[in-house]
Amino acid sequence: MKIQKTASFLPFLIITAFYFLQCPAFAAQKSYIVYLGAQSNSAEEITAHVDQTVRESHYELLESYLQSKERAKEAIFYSYTRYMNGFAAILEEEDAVQISKNPSVVSVFENRGRKLHTTRSWQFLGLERNGRVPKKSLWTKARFGEDVIIANLDTGVWPEAESFRDDDMGPIPSKWRGICQNDSNQKFSCNRKLIGARYFNKGYAAVVGPLNSTFNSPRDTDGHGTHTLSTAGGNFVPGANVQGYGNGTAKGGSPRARVVAYKVCWPPVNGSECFDADILAGFEAAIKDGVDVLSVSLGGADTDYFDDVMAVGAFHAVNNGIAVVTSAGNSGPEAGTVSNVSPWMMTVGASTMDREFPSYVVFDHNRRVEGQSLSSESLPTNKLYRFIRSLDAATPNASIDDADLCQIGSLDKKKVKGKIVVCTRGVFGRVEKGEAVKLAGGAGMVLANDILTGDETIADAHVLPATHITYSDGLKLLSYIKSTKSPKGSITRPITELGTKPAPVMAAFSSQGPNTITPEILKPDITAPGVSVIAAYSLATSPSGLDFDKRRFPFNSDSGTSMSCPHISGIVGLLKAAHPNWSPSAIKSSIMTTARVRDNMVEPIKNASFGKANPFGYGSGHVRPNRAMDPGLVYDLTANDYLNFLCALGYNSTQISTFKTYKCPSKAPALVDLNYPSITIPNLEDSITITRKLKNVGTPGTYVVRIRSPVGITVKVKPTSLTFKEVGEEKTFKLTLTPIDDYIAKDYVFGFLQWSDGNKHYVRSPITVKSKGF
Ligand SMILES: *[C@@H]1O[C@H](CO)[C@@H](O)[C@H](O)[C@H]1NC(C)=O
Ligand SMILES: *[C@@H]1O[C@H](CO)[C@@H](O)[C@H](O)[C@H]1NC(C)=O
Ligand SMILES: *[C@@H]1O[C@H](CO)[C@@H](O)[C@H](O)[C@H]1NC(C)=O
Ligand SMILES: *[C@@H]1O[C@H](CO)[C@@H](O)[C@H](O)[C@H]1NC(C)=O
Ligand SMILES: *[C@@H]1O[C@H](CO)[C@@H](O)[C@H](O)[C@H]1NC(C)=O
Ligand SMILES: *[C@@H]1O[C@H](CO)[C@@H](O)[C@H](O)[C@H]1NC(C)=O
Ligand SMILES: *[C@@H]1O[C@H](CO)[C@@H](O)[C@H](O)[C@H]1NC(C)=O
Repeated sequence: MKIQKTASFLPFLIITAFYFLQCPAFAAQKSYIVYLGAQSNSAEEITAHVDQTVRESHYELLESYLQSKERAKEAIFYSYTRYMNGFAAILEEEDAVQISKNPSVVSVFENRGRKLHTTRSWQFLGLERNGRVPKKSLWTKARFGEDVIIANLDTGVWPEAESFRDDDMGPIPSKWRGICQNDSNQKFSCNRKLIGARYFNKGYAAVVGPLNSTFNSPRDTDGHGTHTLSTAGGNFVPGANVQGYGNGTAKGGSPRARVVAYKVCWPPVNGSECFDADILAGFEAAIKDGVDVLSVSLGGADTDYFDDVMAVGAFHAVNNGIAVVTSAGNSGPEAGTVSNVSPWMMTVGASTMDREFPSYVVFDHNRRVEGQSLSSESLPTNKLYRFIRSLDAATPNASIDDADLCQIGSLDKKKVKGKIVVCTRGVFGRVEKGEAVKLAGGAGMVLANDILTGDETIADAHVLPATHITYSDGLKLLSYIKSTKSPKGSITRPITELGTKPAPVMAAFSSQGPNTITPEILKPDITAPGVSVIAAYSLATSPSGLDFDKRRFPFNSDSGTSMSCPHISGIVGLLKAAHPNWSPSAIKSSIMTTARVRDNMVEPIKNASFGKANPFGYGSGHVRPNRAMDPGLVYDLTANDYLNFLCALGYNSTQISTFKTYKCPSKAPALVDLNYPSITIPNLEDSITITRKLKNVGTPGTYVVRIRSPVGITVKVKPTSLTFKEVGEEKTFKLTLTPIDDYIAKDYVFGFLQWSDGNKHYVRSPITVKSKGF
């Protein structure tokens, strides 16, 4: 699996096959996960004795293939005994094939790798106002998420980060059953804020070979896990900034929550940081330990749910009352790139907030274009510098392409010295390109997008005066450089600008729908801030993560759906505190149906090239936490609804047993009838009628429907008004969609459905439709 921050290089590299290197003599040995189905015992019934019995049964099963109990014990590196029943083991390919034929085995698959997909965002989301917390803020009503336990599966945690100080925190909630795994020789301690931390590295070791003792710790040496965990549940830290920029009080969405780190991601191997066997072990531990919210900012290529540890692990968590929030991925803006698409997860896209770090390129006397930067160094204002395109400064041994991309060692010192070098984005890290210019003696760098990256600019903590500009601005600058013998100009010092418009704007990197596994379920579900987010960081690494960079930042700015995901996790923590009895699905519905599809100019939310964005980018819209507290009505779902959904997908009883032992009804409800808070019809032919059920979680009242039909389609709702006499009451309605005459839309078309009591509740669902044949 991959960590979902924006990759600084080779962003689209996903390699799914991993080979076991530990023992070259057995080239066909690999690590596998063997699923035997779900555990039928309830959590309370499971004891250490049951664990041991289940583990023994795994040894026995494997013994019958390996002809020795010792070999079986050696091969198995995880036994999953609590919620799922299965094990992870190192096996010969041939044995794996044989085991998969055993009638008690549900499935066998490889231990695949996946990628890991502050101070301002909470004001942008309306939780605070200039450092004060309004009465109507969800923060007030949810007591800042007090005593909710939020955990992440990530790269671990930097326990000394100020965001995890436990000043003023009460005793650890008694429901917590986990540990602080610091048995190794490194100093790592938990407290009443960071109440637990564990590491899972056996699935990683099965791929990369034996690990030394430095790997026996949940300590974060990457920064990603510390950043995401503090975004979800970090405490208040005044004076947080990155090189002086964005200065303010850092805090998580649930600043008074308890936090827990499960380290399942390690230094990348072949572009993957997190391996399936470890991820599954992390899910199991989190359920057992008693967490309330799981924030999982990682993902990989999508597969069928029974074959996908993210879907399987998340199902078991949700089935145990834990809300699971995941990142949509950073493979946008192409269609069909969204990952983590199962309906029981909450899948989060990324967009901007109303804060920028503008730094201008000034050229041709008084022309200027805006870039973004967090450089601490700036050029003297009384001097102009010569510009040079990096491709005009290649060393003899470097290709023009290397120089264009500003690879380290590709720039000729004689040509670059004292000048501002214009580099093209791509392949190498953005900060690394600055280092290439600095090493060659350049005075500054302008990083210009290529056509693919378009208008998306990111503020980085560069190592020299530098700024990042759009593709079209890059063309303007380049045409000036070509137009004159002695092109001159400068780069201005970045400033922190608040209240910028428009915001939010969808990030170009944010992965987009449609959902390629189940097109009937709209994904992503929601969008939240994920661009230039400032949060706590690991002091074991530099802000760029590159070896040459010796800087260490307690707070860092990072971008990705990895950063937007914990914003939602923090808000889910608040909703858990405010409504302890709501199911994960009710919480999700309340976040989705109260989301907003307009920006701070009250115009439809735009995408990164300033076209109109749509539900494939933002799902139901941009989160509004204060509204989510009181949605009025929810579309609720139970574990059985999700199981019926798997039945409707045509999964057989063996495949379904990965999730739970369950007998499908003779006629499972249609996929489009899953009581999801958004409505998607991927194959509209003649006319279709679907059903939804609303539950009153507000006050008694009469709700009236309002519809915006997608172009070329009539939408009728029956009944058009619903009266709820009491809280908890449920009412169903039917929605009929019919194509108008012979009108056939050539692509997806979008509309919405909204129930309102005319008072303060607006329960909105996007409608997404594609006609059959397109
Ligand atoms: C990484 O990928 C290469 C090429 O596919 C492969 O030869 C190598 O074994 C892989 N390394 C690991 C540790 O999986
Ligand atoms: C391990 O963690 C516990 C609980 O946080 C702490 O009391 C203890 O000092 C830690 N041990 C070491 C060696 O740091
Ligand atoms: C442990 O292994 C890592 C990665 O191979 C290496 O960088 C590190 O120096 C090793 N540490 C010790 C103490 O051997
Ligand atoms: C950040 O803000 C705090 C409080 O206003 C102030 O004391 C501090 O000097 C500021 N730091 C920077 C680097 O601007
Ligand atoms: C070119 O040669 C120099 C000096 O030997 C070396 O430092 C640099 O890395 C080389 N550049 C490339 C792109 O191979
Ligand atoms: C933005 O939306 C427009 C249509 O509204 C589309 O043409 C364009 O490709 C989109 N750009 C991105 C980056 O998503
Ligand atoms: C379920 O489907 C899998 C894969 O097609 C197959 O191997 C298995 O035998 C099926 N199980 C049942 C009970 O039909």
